[in-house]
Amino acid sequence: LKIALVTGGYTAEAEISLKSSEFVYQQLDKSKYDVYLITITATSWFFVADNGVKHAINREDFTLPMDGNVVRFDLAFIMVHGSPGEDGRLQGYFDMIGLPYTSCDALTSALTMNKAYTKAVLAGIPDLYLAKSVQLFESQRGEAADIVFRELALPCFVKPNGGGSSIGMTKVKAETELAEAIEKAFNAANTGRQVIVEAFVEGREFSVGIYRRADGLFVLPATEVITEREFFDFEAKYVAGLTQEITPAALSAEQRDRIERLVKAIYIRLNCRGMVRVDFFLEKDTERFFFIEINTVPGQTAQSFIPQQVRAAGMTETEFYGELIEQALT
Ligand code: DAL
Ligand code: MG
Repeated sequence: LKIALVTGGYTAEAEISLKSSEFVYQQLDKSKYDVYLITITATSWFFVADNGVKHAINREDFTLPMDGNVVRFDLAFIMVHGSPGEDGRLQGYFDMIGLPYTSCDALTSALTMNKAYTKAVLAGIPDLYLAKSVQLFESQRGEAADIVFRELALPCFVKPNGGGSSIGMTKVKAETELAEAIEKAFNAANTGRQVIVEAFVEGREFSVGIYRRADGLFVLPATEVITEREFFDFEAKYVAGLTQEITPAALSAEQRDRIERLVKAIYIRLNCRGMVRVDFFLEKDTERFFFIEINTVPGQTAQSFIPQQVRAAGMTETEFYGELIEQALT
């Protein structure tokens, strides 16, 4: 089976994509799969052969002309975080040329890249709470801070509405910091040029992977994130030692059942495919689970949660990625 492991991307998360794809590449079973690492940048889509020579992908059909032959792929394993691999663009393109891929479809990917629209779709799931939030559009940029003051109390989180890895995000504790934080988020926004501001929820933070396998939906063991920093920011995510990550998380049986039920309901409501990862806060005192966001191309770096969760579930990454490939082909 010829697999295009697609990496890179057009956003600041491209460097994370490279780390994720390197990890997946190492783990994929090479006796079963012929794996080609394909890098996508804004200017070129290419494969680098063992001898260092760069070969361009034919964008008409995603084939790889090389040394007088043409490599035709059976599947794209999408490992691009952010646009165009997590927001539906590559998915739409692969649908048009008829190449199967490992991820949610174009609609789900585009929807879930927008944190505010995703929350609107998830409203009403029993026992799932949504922190109060304000969605800000480019046309409201000048009055954005005033709009937020009318709707929300501090502290709050300001984020690009279509971003990832906490890039462009600020936890705002003082009124004087809000306008600047909103500008920063607008400047970092890729998809849709929108910002979301959310009320702070005090409590513990969890992240849970889920995927479909032959015997149905399977929820991976949850991870609890404990960071010394103000929040789980870019440094905390990717610099080893800044965060304590506990997998499986210390949850009561009731909390574990509840979070599993919520993750499954979210996966179904959003019509997901393949592996996704959902992040939550568990509010102090009330013990309510608040949805933070869903990642449809979740990180697979050596530090990332899903590989930890796969191991905690007693599987190897090789088995897990193999299952994702088999499912994507059925
Ligand atoms: N957006 C990053 C890669 C994650 O969700 O893991
Ligand atoms: Mg994310």
